[in-house]
Amino acid sequence: MAQSQIRLYYKNVTAEIIGDEHGITTTQLTALAEKTSLLIQKLNKERQAGKTPYRDLSFETQTTQKVKELVGQLKDRCENLVVLGIGGSALGNIALQTALNPYMYNLDDSQRQEPRLFVFDNIDPDQFGSFLDWVDNKLDKTVFNVISKSGQTAETASLFMIVRQLLLDKLGLAGYKNQVVATTDPGKGTLRTIADKDGLHCLDVPPGVGGRFSALSAVGLFSAAMCGIDIDLLLEGARDMDVRVSCEDFYKNPAAINAAINYHYYNHGKKISVMMPYSYALKDLADWYRQLWAESLGKAYSLDGSEVHIGPTPVKALGATDQHSQIQLYREGPNDKLFTFLQVENFVTDLKIGPTPDCAPELSFLAGKDLSILLNCEKMATEYALIQDKRPCLTVLFDKVNEYNVGQFIYLYEVTTSFAGALFGINPYDQPAVDLGKQATFALMGKAGYEKLAQQIQPLTKLDADYLV
Ligand code: PA5
Repeated sequence: MAQSQIRLYYKNVTAEIIGDEHGITTTQLTALAEKTSLLIQKLNKERQAGKTPYRDLSFETQTTQKVKELVGQLKDRCENLVVLGIGGSALGNIALQTALNPYMYNLDDSQRQEPRLFVFDNIDPDQFGSFLDWVDNKLDKTVFNVISKSGQTAETASLFMIVRQLLLDKLGLAGYKNQVVATTDPGKGTLRTIADKDGLHCLDVPPGVGGRFSALSAVGLFSAAMCGIDIDLLLEGARDMDVRVSCEDFYKNPAAINAAINYHYYNHGKKISVMMPYSYALKDLADWYRQLWAESLGKAYSLDGSEVHIGPTPVKALGATDQHSQIQLYREGPNDKLFTFLQVENFVTDLKIGPTPDCAPELSFLAGKDLSILLNCEKMATEYALIQDKRPCLTVLFDKVNEYNVGQFIYLYEVTTSFAGALFGINPYDQPAVDLGKQATFALMGKAGYEKLAQQIQPLTKLDADYLV
């Protein structure tokens, strides 16, 4: 283990701190340890049997090599990199960029030797149209990375079809082929067919790895490496975390403890799980976590087939911003939330607050202090205030936000999700409820084979004037 580890701090969920009614007692923690320890062994066996291929991503040197080769091929003629994807095919890319490149990365050429990054995970015509207007005279210096495991996802497919035609019109077939990288299933699917037929550069979405578990595959690695992020360190962080989350001693296994605490609180009335980074860089990791947690754990049926309708609701918040928006509710509203703060001990940059204006001596307590100290004091103050109202609080501590620690965090939460899935007794790797909405879109857009569904939807698509005010 080359560098310092991220750490999970869980004292502020215990009965010692927030009392017996809302805190976890020693007896409860012991029972959780017993139950979860068996699951650690089970998950380790499943992993060895190749049933959780996302756990092997950070060991796949061939993928890293292929990504680096493609980056080497494309980088010099790329001023703008555009990712087209949605859900698990975009959220990891966004999170890595926000965490590991400077805030002004796209705007300030002096802070960047690499291409600007734009990620489109929506189909808003105003937004994408505005971008296309801007990029129109820069297409020969713009690389489009279309990411879709299936290639059937309407949002990604439609943006890609717009871009494909634009590139063919403006740059011709050779230009189009040069400027597009397709990241998709290695052997099947619509995007694979197009990529093979059109002769596009290709990267693989590994088989058996769902979108939300794919940030450390070529899905997340290509845009990261193109934008100067050290993907070797990212993967090293994940590999080192793998040792910790495979440990059969519950009390040394941060994923097992994290999942067990979340499971306990879900069963004790805390159905909402708030992730609140006190770091702008980490804010999109909370967004990534929101999908991971929601799609993986929100399930109608348990593994034995009984109807359970289970799953904590993940909410993202940002410190200190949301202290002035959400904390009133979090403290005085229903006691139905478990809080997870992300705290950074050493920021990349720090700033000294200026001297006190003569006319405002009441501000002297701020003068000359580091901005990072203020931010972390606000985190501690918020946590203190929540604890006074008996709200349980976890903290993930980052000594720094860097590739190694972010790799650890991503992998920690992926494995935490596997443990939570096992504790809840559901399959965390499927998303059956997402399909009906996708099929209804196909039906409404007139896709062949969906005529019957289109008829069923029709009554709902007409506005009933009696209900319009
Ligand atoms: O996590 C998931 O599996 C989903 O969020 C998918 O990533 C998302 O629906 C996009 O699917 P695809 O990559 O097939 O376009």
